[in-house]
Amino acid sequence: MSKVLLEIQGLRKQYGAVEVLKGVDCTMHQGEVISIIGSSGSGKTTMLRCINMLEDFQGGHIRLDGEEIGYDQSGSSRKRKSEKEIARQRALTGMAFQQFNLFPHLTAAKNVMLGLVKVKKMPHDEARALAEKWLDRVGLKSRADHYPGQLSGGQQQRVAIARAIAMAPRLMLFDEVTSALDPELVGEVLQVIKGLAADGMSMLLVTHEMRFAYEVSSRVIFMNQGVICEEGNPKEMFVKPKTERLAEFLKTSSFN
Ligand SMILES: Nc1ncnc2c1ncn2[C@@H]1O[C@H](COP(=O)(O)OP(=O)(O)O)[C@@H](O)[C@H]1O
Ligand SMILES: [Mg+2]
Repeated sequence: MSKVLLEIQGLRKQYGAVEVLKGVDCTMHQGEVISIIGSSGSGKTTMLRCINMLEDFQGGHIRLDGEEIGYDQSGSSRKRKSEKEIARQRALTGMAFQQFNLFPHLTAAKNVMLGLVKVKKMPHDEARALAEKWLDRVGLKSRADHYPGQLSGGQQQRVAIARAIAMAPRLMLFDEVTSALDPELVGEVLQVIKGLAADGMSMLLVTHEMRFAYEVSSRVIFMNQGVICEEGNPKEMFVKPKTERLAEFLKTSSFN
C-alpha cells in the first residue's frame, strides 16, 4: 500500500459547549479517493475545515505527510502554531466549496493565477501558462479571459477547482461542490473530479451524489453525529451496510 498521507486521531471540535466532532479517527493513503457521506449536521464540513485549519479544534491530532497540523504539543500542553506556519500548512491542502468564491472582478485565468503569483511568487508568464493548462484540463480553455459573471455555475465551479489544483496541493478537499448547481451542470463538475481521481490525486470529498461516491471512491466514510459510524469500500457500504444508521441514511439518499 502507498504511504500514509493523512492521519486523523481522536479529533474533537466544539462550538461553544456543543461538541460536533467527538473523536474522529481516519487514516488516508496517498492516491486514495475517500467520499464522506452522512446527514446534514453530522460534522462533515467541520472535519474538512479542521484539516485545512479554517477551524481550531480542541483535541486530537491531524498529520499530513507526518507533519502535525495546527498545533505544537509538548508534554500535555498544546499551543497553536504561528499564523505564518498555519498559512504554510494550509497551502498543503486545496479546498473547493459549495460556493465557488471566485473574485468577480478577475477573469478566470486571473482567478487561477492569483495564488500562484501572490503566494507562490511565480513569475506572471509562468503563472499564466499554468492557469491556461489547468483551465484546459477542466475544459475551459476558451473561457480563460471570461469573468465569473459570464460563466455558468458549472463553469465557475470548474474554475474554482482549477484554481485550487494549480497550487499543487498534497490533498484536495471538496465540500459538496455540486450542491449549488442546477442539475444539468452537475455532471461536468463530477467529470472533472473523476479525471483528477484517475490522475492519482488524493481527495477527500463530501458529497450527496451517492452514485458518484460509489463510482469514484476507493473508500467511503459515513459520519453520524460527530463520529465515523461506518467505513469501507463502496460496494460494502452501499450494497451491504453493516449499521442500521447507514441503511436508514441510504434509504433517504439518492443512490437508488
Ligand atoms: N460556526 C458554527 N457555530 C456553531 N455551530 C456550528 C458552526 N458550524 C457548524 N456548526 C454545527 O456543527 C454541527 C456540524 O456541522 P457541519 O460540520 O456543517 O455538518 P455537515 O457538513 O455534516 O452538514 C451542526 O450541528 C452545526 O449546526
Ligand atoms: Mg456541510
